[in-house]
Amino acid sequence: MSWVTKTLNSTLGQKLLMALTGFFLILFLVVHLAGNLQLLIPDNGESFNLYAHNMAINNFIRSVSIINFGLILLHVVYSVILTKHNKKARPVGYAETDASTNSTWASRNMGILGTLILIFLLVHLRGFWYRLKFGSPDKVLLGDTEVDNAFIIVVEAFKNPIYVGFYVISMVFLAFHLSHGFASAFQTLGINHKKYTPLIQKVGLGFAILIPTLFAMIPIVMYIQSL
Ligand code: HEM
Repeated sequence: MSWVTKTLNSTLGQKLLMALTGFFLILFLVVHLAGNLQLLIPDNGESFNLYAHNMAINNFIRSVSIINFGLILLHVVYSVILTKHNKKARPVGYAETDASTNSTWASRNMGILGTLILIFLLVHLRGFWYRLKFGSPDKVLLGDTEVDNAFIIVVEAFKNPIYVGFYVISMVFLAFHLSHGFASAFQTLGINHKKYTPLIQKVGLGFAILIPTLFAMIPIVMYIQSL
């Protein structure tokens, strides 16, 4: 057995993989948010369409996108493997201890939260990414260049209050998922320090609140603008 297979078969290796893929996905969220906030620039979608166009034609970004999808898949697959392993190791749970005193609600429900985020992601990709890549999106002129009108797809989607509500609730799930995932990833990597761990936990909580709140603001603001 090679060291890669050995590592991936061990619980520690699987946890490491979850942590590393989680870090990458956290980074993706920051970049994705920065791009999406351009939807709120009052220029009729010009900045956002230019950004979406530049991302679509850039070979480096296209490679990162494929890696991103691969890492999302790994993160999901290994979360299922780890959950199964944990259930096997402790089928009845701790009878005498009250779980809520030892752990947070989010940490005990990472699987459920992850599943809800996965459902969000599938709906999200179907609504935006798939329509842009495999549909026939409207075109718009940016200077002399004709580009996909990604902006109008998002505008149309966020006219629907049910869709907006779905995004906002999903961002609450994302916040809880990140509130445990961020600090937990550092711990898995062995970064466990008397002085720095409380700081990492605080930064993690701040991140878990800020990023999903800003994401949730986008559909809310666009819905209000559409009224
Ligand atoms: C208001 C919030 C959001 C908006 C307006 C938004 C918008 C978009 C749009 C327009 C695309 C298609 C881009 C393209 O292919 O050119 C996209 C792709 C994507 N979004 Fe979002 N997004 C939001 C939140 C999220 C969140 C919270 C996640 C993750 C939990 C996410 C994950 C993705 C992924 C994985 C892709 C595919 C990226 C790729 O092609 O590599 N998005 N999003």
